[in-house]
Amino acid sequence: MRHIPVLAKEILENLSEDMSVFMDGTIGHGGHIEYFFSNGNFDNTLFVAVDRDAQMLKKAKSYLTSFGDKIIFQNNNYSDLENISKNIGDKKFDGILLDLGVNMDHFKLSDRGFSIKKDGNLDMRFDSSSQYSAYDFLNNGNRSDISQAFNKYGDFTTKFADYMADCIIGERKKSKLSTTFDFVNLLKNIGLGTKKISVVFQCVRIVVNNELGHLEKFLDNFGSYLNSGGKCFIITYHSIEDRIVKYKFKDKSRIGNFQLINKKVIKPSYQEIQKNNASRSAKLRIIKAL
Ligand SMILES: C[S@@+](CC[C@H](N)C(=O)[O-])C[C@H]1O[C@@H](n2cnc3c(N)ncnc32)[C@H](O)[C@@H]1O
Repeated sequence: MRHIPVLAKEILENLSEDMSVFMDGTIGHGGHIEYFFSNGNFDNTLFVAVDRDAQMLKKAKSYLTSFGDKIIFQNNNYSDLENISKNIGDKKFDGILLDLGVNMDHFKLSDRGFSIKKDGNLDMRFDSSSQYSAYDFLNNGNRSDISQAFNKYGDFTTKFADYMADCIIGERKKSKLSTTFDFVNLLKNIGLGTKKISVVFQCVRIVVNNELGHLEKFLDNFGSYLNSGGKCFIITYHSIEDRIVKYKFKDKSRIGNFQLINKKVIKPSYQEIQKNNASRSAKLRIIKAL
């Protein structure tokens, strides 16, 4: 099943059809770009489609074949703006979109280890060539790193996060946690239900992929890669990510060379959430380079 793009209409309403180059840094299944092509006139725009996950990039290519050479694909991290720009002749962008987090497809592919409902390797890497997986974090990570991940990214109390870390360390001394169901069963035995187990998986995923580190690196640098008048759009699904984007955008607008397009965060409409429940926690922030 194809991932449904979130807040696509709200982004399109803020895009200029005069853009020369637009980067979608988290192309996934390419739903946003396809929506822009289908609902706008971007004959003069070159689209750069980036994903850290080679499997997703391949799928995006297959979904977007009809747009031919209007789209350049790059298997890279959106935070590596230097190389993304270098690969297209050091061009700057008139628009950049990040739609953070996981693709719905990630939950369907059991071997990727993102789903609590499918047994698979404890993996959770977006970039399968990276050396650090959920297996490494859970089997070799130290108590304080494991506990802090649950406390910081999952809002578990320090006491309960410490308890979970102790249970993981106790279990791995007996035998390594090697599959998603090993981990799910451990969490069930601790007393967690499905919702909380999903939150724990999300915490592990954030650490394994250094998701906040890449977001911060991007936020520190994107200003140098946006043309004057260019806009940056970021959709987040996690309160910490939204907070990071909110304060970084505010700082930039205060310094004076950026303007906030929306002071209040943009959320999906009731109708969008009815059609696509996965959009319910999405938050969009937009900033413009002056
Ligand atoms: C929510 S999905 C994007 C869905 C897409 N907008 C669509 O409509 O199909 C997020 C995508 O970002 C990718 N991703 C996550 N972190 C990334 C990073 N640091 N750099 C590049 N891609 C990343 C994931 O592999 C995933 O495919």
